[in-house]
Amino acid sequence: MQNLDSIVHAAKAAFAATFDPDALEQAKARYLGKSGRITVLLKELGKLTAEEKRKTGAAINQAKAAVETALAERREAIKQAELSARLADEALDVTLPGRSEAQGSLHPVTRTLERIERLFASIGFAVADGPEIETDFYNFTALNTPEDHPARSMHDTFYLLDKHGKLAEKVLLRTHTSPIQARYMQAHMAKYAGQETMPEIRIIAPGRVYRVDSDATHSPMFHQVEGLWVGENVSFADLKGVIADFLRRFFETDDLEVRFRPSFFPFTEPSAEIDVAFMRGTQKGRWLEIAGCGMVHPNVLKHAGIDPEKYTGFAFGFGPDRLAMLRYGVNDLRLFFEGDLRFLRQFA
Ligand code: PHE
Repeated sequence: MQNLDSIVHAAKAAFAATFDPDALEQAKARYLGKSGRITVLLKELGKLTAEEKRKTGAAINQAKAAVETALAERREAIKQAELSARLADEALDVTLPGRSEAQGSLHPVTRTLERIERLFASIGFAVADGPEIETDFYNFTALNTPEDHPARSMHDTFYLLDKHGKLAEKVLLRTHTSPIQARYMQAHMAKYAGQETMPEIRIIAPGRVYRVDSDATHSPMFHQVEGLWVGENVSFADLKGVIADFLRRFFETDDLEVRFRPSFFPFTEPSAEIDVAFMRGTQKGRWLEIAGCGMVHPNVLKHAGIDPEKYTGFAFGFGPDRLAMLRYGVNDLRLFFEGDLRFLRQFA
């Protein structure tokens, strides 16, 4: 039957033009659904005579079987295509190099600070801490540096403004770690108030400090390690011994000389600058300034409530960035703070 052949032909073409199960089901409905072309023909059989019914019915059933076969084939083909697409999509390239976990390491300045802390801990120094945003009082006044004292100009720093853009009640980024000694002594005295004697104070205080300064040996943010020893009969000789011993252990050599050069700090009296010179190596014989120090000024002790007639003490302030430069042979301080991994990896 010409008509039947063309229906089968059209059905096959319609199925072939679909690429997903939904579209295929819709195409199927047009031929085998309730009012599909094949279904309609079968319904019309009823109007025919028994003889015609047998002949036409057989032909229609044959056509229907052909359409059903084409449908099943297309279903399978679409399923296969979807599977291959998924496989291609989720394919793993097992030849790609793996993603290894990046390993971090300590910053050279952090390593230096930890080394300093360890060495001082071994002679009984505890580690103390203090705020980086400091009040004018602890940064200067409590350290015998009143308003208008000329020494303040050496500590040009960053002052903080309040929300109206004005200078807030004298708050600044600390210019040194010395305010920590002022805070610590005060807290210590509050703890032992009313007692006949106080236990010795023996601390170091590492931390970040800030000044308006930037060149190969100065960075606007740098580090200091404050040291403080207050007790009965603590003398300048103790200071010299502690410092010389520390430097030999820090640089792991006895081939160095330490020099105490008279200097001035408002919060120590007498005061000195500590220089070190190596007797070997590229820096041989060159004096390098690495710290400030001195005997704690009686006014500073008094500010903290400590009797300067009974107790004495010494204080020092190291630049650990300088120590790290010397120990590792780094010639530009700023390299430490630029975050260049090619530089930092060398210390890992
Ligand atoms: N705080 C001083 C400075 O930053 C260094 C110092 C510390 C000097 C302790 C003496 C005693 O310049």
